[in-house]
Amino acid sequence: MVADGKIRVFCILFFAQTLEYAELTQDQTTSRANTLYDDADDIQRQLDNEARDRMKYGFPKTVWVFHLPTTFPDMSWFHEMKTPRNSYLFGKRATSGVETVTPLLSNLKAWDYKDQNKWSTLFPECAGRSQSPVNLPASGLVKARGARRLLFCNYNVPAKSMRVVRDSQSLTLYGKWNKVDRPLVCGGAAHSRRYLFHSLTLHWPSEHVIGGLQYPLESQALHISAEYKTFKDAVAAASRDKLAFLGIVNIYKFTNRTQQGLKSILKAATSKRPGNNYSIPAHSIGFFTPPFQEYVTYQGSLTYPPCTEAVLWFVRARSLPVERNIVKAAHKLTNPYNEPMKLLIRRLQPMNDRKTYFFG
Ligand SMILES: *[C@@H]1O[C@H](CO)[C@@H](O)[C@H](O)[C@H]1NC(C)=O
Ligand SMILES: *[C@@H]1O[C@H](CO)[C@@H](O)[C@H](O)[C@H]1NC(C)=O
Repeated sequence: MVADGKIRVFCILFFAQTLEYAELTQDQTTSRANTLYDDADDIQRQLDNEARDRMKYGFPKTVWVFHLPTTFPDMSWFHEMKTPRNSYLFGKRATSGVETVTPLLSNLKAWDYKDQNKWSTLFPECAGRSQSPVNLPASGLVKARGARRLLFCNYNVPAKSMRVVRDSQSLTLYGKWNKVDRPLVCGGAAHSRRYLFHSLTLHWPSEHVIGGLQYPLESQALHISAEYKTFKDAVAAASRDKLAFLGIVNIYKFTNRTQQGLKSILKAATSKRPGNNYSIPAHSIGFFTPPFQEYVTYQGSLTYPPCTEAVLWFVRARSLPVERNIVKAAHKLTNPYNEPMKLLIRRLQPMNDRKTYFFG
């Protein structure tokens, strides 16, 4: 198994160089806790190789995916679906009846990252047993077999418009699509459900930690199960539906280039334009959070109040690239209250008895 793994690593490296597909040479996991401020590229490269061995080719136990928690929601909305028109990677376009995009954090100053101990007095769920973010194990993962492919539908369809909103605790991307074009995720560990894209929020440094290692930046693409019309509806349903949300985590690692989508969000936010709500050139959502097939999944919560414990998290197994000066510029941002936005993260939460599964 190890030998086989090594061969495959070499194949991947070969292809990565041939195709100059630099993302394949980036990986997120390692046992060494020094990447965040580590300047030496050769050490970085060594960590990358080590990481790939661990996360992807460690000695995973195998489970068949029907052992994972599964629910079968009301599928009545399904009949609204029209014929798929196009595809991106392996995804088919599909439609859905949800259109409304609710602002993520409307209650601006009810909480902040400095006083996280106080969250649970206002939002009791923040003291729950399945909270996020967590420190994900970099080895000993359970590898799920027999899963359907994860499908990223409409991930290549440009939005009609896009905005970047800077509020007191976050920097968030929203988009508007025609009803039939809204991006959605289904298949893979998401089972029979379809999750519509809601928003993409940036955190620096990373909220999720892998094998004890924190990364310079993380983006979280929140998706809402298609039977809920709004963010609020999904939060309200969470007591009976533990899979109301799907969160995609992209971890960024320092390298000598920056993923284009991230660049365009931070360019808007760090420009000297007045205000806190900027229109940016419209792209597809895949531009900001490219589709993937390898990921680690666990059951958790929203990482900010109300900390709703109804999020199926998918953590992309290979990191995306970011340059140091881009992250440095982000650290200089201030929020609408003129407070520095240096640390946009919740502290780590205990894993308790939760399991982590690897798909890919
Ligand atoms: C980044 O570094 C790699 C390897 O060190 C090099 O091949 C590549 O050309 C560099 N990319 C840029 C944009 O400088
Ligand atoms: C940002 O501006 C757009 C257009 O003016 C508006 O529709 C949207 O609600 C605003 N978003 C927030 C969170 O203020």
